[in-house]
Amino acid sequence: MKIFKDPEKMRDWARKMLLAKRKVALVPTMGYLHDGHISLVDRAKAKGADEIVVSIFVNPVQFGPNEDYEKYPRNEKADLAKCRAAGVSAVFLPSAQSMYHADRSAFVDEGTLSKGLCGAKRPGHFRGVCTVVAKLFNIVQPDFAVFGEKDFQQAAVIKRMVRDLNFGVKIVLSPIVREKSGLAMSSRNTYLSAEEKQKALTLSRVLFSVREGEIKTPASVAAKLKKAGLVVDYVECVDSETLAPLKRFKPLSRVLVAVYDGKTRLIDNVEVKNLKQNKEKK
Ligand code: PAF
Repeated sequence: MKIFKDPEKMRDWARKMLLAKRKVALVPTMGYLHDGHISLVDRAKAKGADEIVVSIFVNPVQFGPNEDYEKYPRNEKADLAKCRAAGVSAVFLPSAQSMYHADRSAFVDEGTLSKGLCGAKRPGHFRGVCTVVAKLFNIVQPDFAVFGEKDFQQAAVIKRMVRDLNFGVKIVLSPIVREKSGLAMSSRNTYLSAEEKQKALTLSRVLFSVREGEIKTPASVAAKLKKAGLVVDYVECVDSETLAPLKRFKPLSRVLVAVYDGKTRLIDNVEVKNLKQNKEKK
């Protein structure tokens, strides 16, 4: 497995792969890898990648001034071992200095899909995400890149950026991977105390009820989350493609939730499936 810290070395290798007509997949991550990340690597394999590049970079420009950039969990050694075991061809591990000039002045911004939901709560977040993902696409020049549906809004924003800026990269989405308890896997779960982890289970439980058509409005989701001691940042039902807000849950719409569990911000989402079927059963 190759390890590149220097963007130019990463680009040279990627160019060689391009000239050799190897199908390259990129899995962008911020590290502290878990099974959710490895499922993205597996998805890249299943989609026929000849070479899989995992980027590991805690991107400073997507964190707000009072967010967890400094304390974001990092474990380079364990990450490399997991990548090796998963059959990754190359890991791109740049430093912040090698990715960003001190006097940087060009950014990538998406103007519609990134404005609501997490974008409204975390100003500048998606500008940072789009900027780093555009840079990674330029450096690695992958045929396709795999993103997890857990960050559903992020995936929609990146798809729009790719469409509007004519990136030659196909975006592949991969389903949320959950712990046995139902909790969506996230590097940030490591912040949770045992008690907070217990509380966090309500999030997926409530969303599973939404999926099955047992809960029908954002207000009832919020009420159940509050009752469990979670602080609701937002609960919204949106059209899966346009992210336009919908008043009531309807089949194939997406319900997205962000909560604070203690100091930890958790996000999760689910596709509404069985409303009609459920009505017929009643
Ligand atoms: O989803 C993430 O881990 C990050 O937002 C990404 C896409 C790697 C960009 O830093």
